[in-house]
Amino acid sequence: MTPNFPRALRRLAAPLLALGCLAGGPATAQDNYPNHAISLVVPFAAGGPTDVVARSLGAAMSKTLGQSIIVENRPGAGGTLAATHVARAAPDGYTFLIHHNGMATAPALYRKLPFNPLTDFAYVGQVADVPMTLLGRKDLPPADMVEFIKYARANGNKINLANAGLGAVSQLCGMLLQEALGTQFTTIPYAGTAPALTALLGGQVDVLCDQTTQTIPHIKAQRVKLYGVTTLDRIKTLPDASTLQESGLKGFEVKVWHGVYAPKGTPPEVVAKFNASLRAALQDPAFTQKMAELGAEIVPEAKQTPAGLQSWLQSEVDKWGPIIRKAGVYAD
Ligand code: MLT
Repeated sequence: MTPNFPRALRRLAAPLLALGCLAGGPATAQDNYPNHAISLVVPFAAGGPTDVVARSLGAAMSKTLGQSIIVENRPGAGGTLAATHVARAAPDGYTFLIHHNGMATAPALYRKLPFNPLTDFAYVGQVADVPMTLLGRKDLPPADMVEFIKYARANGNKINLANAGLGAVSQLCGMLLQEALGTQFTTIPYAGTAPALTALLGGQVDVLCDQTTQTIPHIKAQRVKLYGVTTLDRIKTLPDASTLQESGLKGFEVKVWHGVYAPKGTPPEVVAKFNASLRAALQDPAFTQKMAELGAEIVPEAKQTPAGLQSWLQSEVDKWGPIIRKAGVYAD
């Protein structure tokens, strides 16, 4: 037994104890929560990176909640259709949203956003951070990122860049990339990066910026060209892949974070129970191993809490608003 064992045991026990937090007090309407399946809404297509995290998380959480978590894909408008749906859903603890950086970029990207990410939700907690990879179709001429930079500047809008719509992280990454290169590609939006990657594999588009949670198996099987990773440092799962910063795009960084949300007005006891199940899932070996294989990093404990997600979201809204407004990218 290591000297750290008692502390590790306490960490493991905390969310499990919280899961029983409704027992013992006076009976409330939430005492038997959950008593039927819960819907976890994913704002992009099935089979894509958000879907992969949601399905693995749902499987782990259903072990402690004792009910199924059904993943519901509601793609469209860069994730804003799904967020609108959840903001308007009954706050009864049976509808949740998993979303990424798009929650923070949407207010600057959409002039008529039907929800306010900072006021229309109850916050459950963050899940994992995921690096992105810049991919080209297998037969795209540049062999590496240094060659790609020259090729992109010479060919501009002859290059087709796939993304998952305004509000998707593939769009955010592509926007920053074009700005860093001083060039404009032709953008082709899809309902998620699952269909976008299919288009890349089929040679219908040239370039895609996408998360390792979807791209690693295709990179390892050499079905795509990998130009680099979007983190400042190299990542463990792809140690030979250079960063875009190393290849000349100084300071280039896009990291994807995921949060879980409920409609505003969801009872705090229900949010606490869902959060406890989330935190238990983030220590579940089946979940953590899958995330590690796909390059995702479980967030530190402070970010796994409702307050941790809420303050992070606020800081991301403050960070991305000015960058997006400066780039002048928006939907009417
Ligand atoms: C997806 O799940 O399809 C992606 O997260 C879309 C994106 O944001 O690029």
